[in-house]
Amino acid sequence: MDPINLKKVKPSEVQTLLNVSREMFFTAFAHLNTVDDMALYAAKAFTIEKLSEELSNPDSHFYFAILNENIAGYIKLNTHTAQTEFQDPQALEIERIYVGAKFQNQQIGKQLLQFAIDKAVENKCEYIWLGVWDANHNAIRFYKRHGFQIFSSHEFMLGNDKQTDLLMKKVLEENL
Ligand SMILES: CC(C)(COP(=O)(O)OP(=O)(O)OC[C@H]1O[C@@H](n2cnc3c(N)ncnc32)[C@H](O)[C@@H]1OP(=O)(O)O)[C@@H](O)C(=O)NCCC(=O)NCCS
Repeated sequence: MDPINLKKVKPSEVQTLLNVSREMFFTAFAHLNTVDDMALYAAKAFTIEKLSEELSNPDSHFYFAILNENIAGYIKLNTHTAQTEFQDPQALEIERIYVGAKFQNQQIGKQLLQFAIDKAVENKCEYIWLGVWDANHNAIRFYKRHGFQIFSSHEFMLGNDKQTDLLMKKVLEENL
């Protein structure tokens, strides 16, 4: 396993974050959704203004996964009121976790997940949680393998398509 380097994304790197976010989102989901739904969602989620706002939130943290000087993936972590749901101060949310197509299956996802777990333990969180599209079988299997369990679900609009997100959590026994 090649160890990745986790580098906190700086506000000045917003354009790079935008490019990486868009590219990884389209590569992962374009073949499973309509062109219109993808474009509608991306037009809202992936703009300089939106990402700059997210980068300036002290409770949101973006990190690039660097492998041999390449951006192989990224992760977005939220605590406190930056969380998209619950806003539980004892929790940490993984809002986004992406590994570029050509870097997948090399344990980069595993290292990103471990990094998030380490941050949650460090912050004395009792659990770590995330939402995942119920059609994303690959990611659901990956999370289950790493000890996450489904505890709820909610609706999520991808453009005009109403989708179901499964909510999964991993309890951090060491912090209970
Ligand atoms: C889900 C995702 C983050 C996983 O990242 P990854 O870097 O491929 O993850 P890993 O390499 O750690 O593990 C992936 C699989 O490869 C397997 N694998 C890892 N290293 C391996 C090795 N050396 N030999 C064989 N298999 C290996 C693992 O067993 C794992 O299988 P599993 O999914 O059944 O658990 C990645 O697929 C991704 O970005 N997908 C697109 C975006 C996405 O869906 N994000 C989640 C949104 S909620």
